[in-house]
Amino acid sequence: MASIQELFDLSGRTAIVTGGAGFLGQQFTEALAEAGADVVVADIEGQAAADWAEHIDRVGGSAASVTLDVTDPASVKELIDFTLKRFGSLDILVNSAALDPKFESGTKSSHATSFEAFPLQSWKDALEVNLTGMFLVSQAAARVMAESGKGSLINICSTYGIAGPDQRLYESLGEPHLYKPVYYSVTKAGVLGLTKYIATYYQGTEIRCNALTPGGVERDHEPAFKEAYAQRTVLGRMAYPHEMKGAVVFLASEASSYMTGSNLIVDGGWTAW
Ligand SMILES: NC(=O)c1ccc[n+]([C@@H]2O[C@H](COP(=O)([O-])OP(=O)(O)OC[C@H]3O[C@@H](n4cnc5c(N)ncnc54)[C@H](O)[C@@H]3O)[C@@H](O)[C@H]2O)c1
Repeated sequence: MASIQELFDLSGRTAIVTGGAGFLGQQFTEALAEAGADVVVADIEGQAAADWAEHIDRVGGSAASVTLDVTDPASVKELIDFTLKRFGSLDILVNSAALDPKFESGTKSSHATSFEAFPLQSWKDALEVNLTGMFLVSQAAARVMAESGKGSLINICSTYGIAGPDQRLYESLGEPHLYKPVYYSVTKAGVLGLTKYIATYYQGTEIRCNALTPGGVERDHEPAFKEAYAQRTVLGRMAYPHEMKGAVVFLASEASSYMTGSNLIVDGGWTAW
């Protein structure tokens, strides 16, 4: 019987994290590397990905970087080819890349778009990255995993894929009224559908697919927003970035070997009431 250390150990595994240079992407890549995996930091921001992979290497992990556009099949193919050539296998995929509008200080003005006036092009762009991109990378990774009959795919969702955004939170940011955009809820709900499709498609194999649903993670938010958000959670606060690390390693590792088609919600209780 495996010990708990063995169950969480990712030594000898290779993981790709799309959006790996992003705010949570950094947490995911760092966590997987700390658990022993070789990690590919894949992001459209190629320099940021390279810098972050270098950081992981410097602190004792094993990482490489790739410039990736999840919406471009040729770029996705290059990612898979690079990963197999560099590390010899592909065991874990974390789909974290997304257009996720932020509400930190100084980033407010681009979110003042009501539902009635929401631009078609923004809707299309987000569907392309958040859903089509996740489909393309999952499909390419699953082709490799299908050969070994084993692998873990982790799709990053959001509480807003489960419940609608509480737009009153964004009111706290003042005038003009800001909104969490419609595409965000729709694409994140779609992530759950894709997760269940992939999980059930690979029935009878050890290819598992689960979603990880973070709640709002504290960054440079305005105090009024932080306070309003905190009141909506059972734990009375936003998440700290490191609070997503355990969940991603759990889903990537043998510790979750009987879990597929599921959604691990790490939201401080947001969706509990
Ligand atoms: N930060 C939060 O509070 C929070 C909460 C719930 C869910 N999430 C989800 O977690 C995931 C990560 O969020 P984050 O906070 O790190 O966001 P982020 O914006 O910091 O990171 C997203 C990353 O994706 C990359 N990216 C965008 N388009 C791409 C493309 N076409 N190809 C490849 N890479 C691309 C960006 O360069 C960026 O590095 C997202 O799916 C987000 O929706 C975040």
